[in-house]
Amino acid sequence: MQEIFRKILADAVFAPSGDNQQPWTFRLGENYVDIYDSSTPSLYDFKQHATYISHGALIENIVRLAAVEGYASKVKVFPDIKDYKHISRIEFTDAPKTDPESIRSIKKRFTDRMPFLKHRIDARANQAIQEAGQRPPFVRFEMIQSRSLVKKLVDLLAVGDKMILDNQELHKYFYDNIRWTDDEFKRTQDGMHIRSITRNPMMKFLLRILKSWKITKFFRLFGLEYTSYLMRRHIYEKSPALGYFVIHNNWAESYVETGRALQSVWLAATDYDISLQPMSSMLFLYSRLRGNSPESITNWEASIINRVTGNVYKLLGVKDEVITFFVRLGYAKTEIRPPSVRKSPKFIE
Ligand SMILES: Cc1cc2nc3c(=O)[nH]c(=O)nc-3n(C[C@H](O)[C@H](O)[C@H](O)COP(=O)(O)O)c2cc1C
Repeated sequence: MQEIFRKILADAVFAPSGDNQQPWTFRLGENYVDIYDSSTPSLYDFKQHATYISHGALIENIVRLAAVEGYASKVKVFPDIKDYKHISRIEFTDAPKTDPESIRSIKKRFTDRMPFLKHRIDARANQAIQEAGQRPPFVRFEMIQSRSLVKKLVDLLAVGDKMILDNQELHKYFYDNIRWTDDEFKRTQDGMHIRSITRNPMMKFLLRILKSWKITKFFRLFGLEYTSYLMRRHIYEKSPALGYFVIHNNWAESYVETGRALQSVWLAATDYDISLQPMSSMLFLYSRLRGNSPESITNWEASIINRVTGNVYKLLGVKDEVITFFVRLGYAKTEIRPPSVRKSPKFIE
């Protein structure tokens, strides 16, 4: 049985995680697996919300892969209230094997940061993706295809990308997680391959230069961050659809559930050859500010984050709920898939 669990986990870790940090370790029991948080702190990860979302995506993969192998899963989130690092225990019992269709996109799914075609999302795909994102009573998922609303929202959300040129800590975090060559990517088995960010040699060269915070600061004198904002906005504005996840209460468990809903949406989208990119950095920084824990975020940056995210909430009419995650969706312009690697699952005794 343990061999099967190990095989399941080896595929499950292809779940998405913030900057491909893969913040998880495992402990195998007789008929269960314990999953622990092994994340390192980041400005984006206030109260481990981003980590919990990644764990949710991982859990969704495990449940689906186990079902195909003939195991029903009982997921307990935060099984030990004294140990907040112990994120879940999944118990397995024998059950009839399910259709492998539900897992066919687990290793096909990837983050597509390139421009999408303007084509509207096909009605059948739209319905399948909408349904995949509902996890009552925890999470609601909404999709937007109105051109004018998509434009207004991406104009706001694209500010998140610009923040890495404003804030030194975010800048460092971004560069710490870029892998510049295939060899580096294979060696570290984490982070983001440069080809998943840009395929333009000139842009790659520019990104290399801007690794130095001193040089970034110098070019900011000439409006570098604003140019970068306009470039990202130009890419995002062509997206035919956006999707967002909403929770009713700010519990840690709701973030794990958001991750499960996100992964279901992403797998359904991949089934229909639809690409997806998360655009949630502003939301993560906003929840840090709302939790009164700005750390290295300056007052000026805080005022931008509050204004921009406040406007997102207003545009969507969300009042007493929390928007946990944003994605853009569309058909890829190119079929080229960036490389994606994962570490083998790490087990503790
Ligand atoms: C919680 C979370 C936050 C993420 N935030 C972003 C983001 O702001 N921008 C982005 O392009 N990708 C984002 N991603 C996607 C990850 O960078 C991506 O999943 C990871 O690098 C692995 O690559 P893959 O999805 O292609 O397998 C996020 C993923 C998760 C789970």
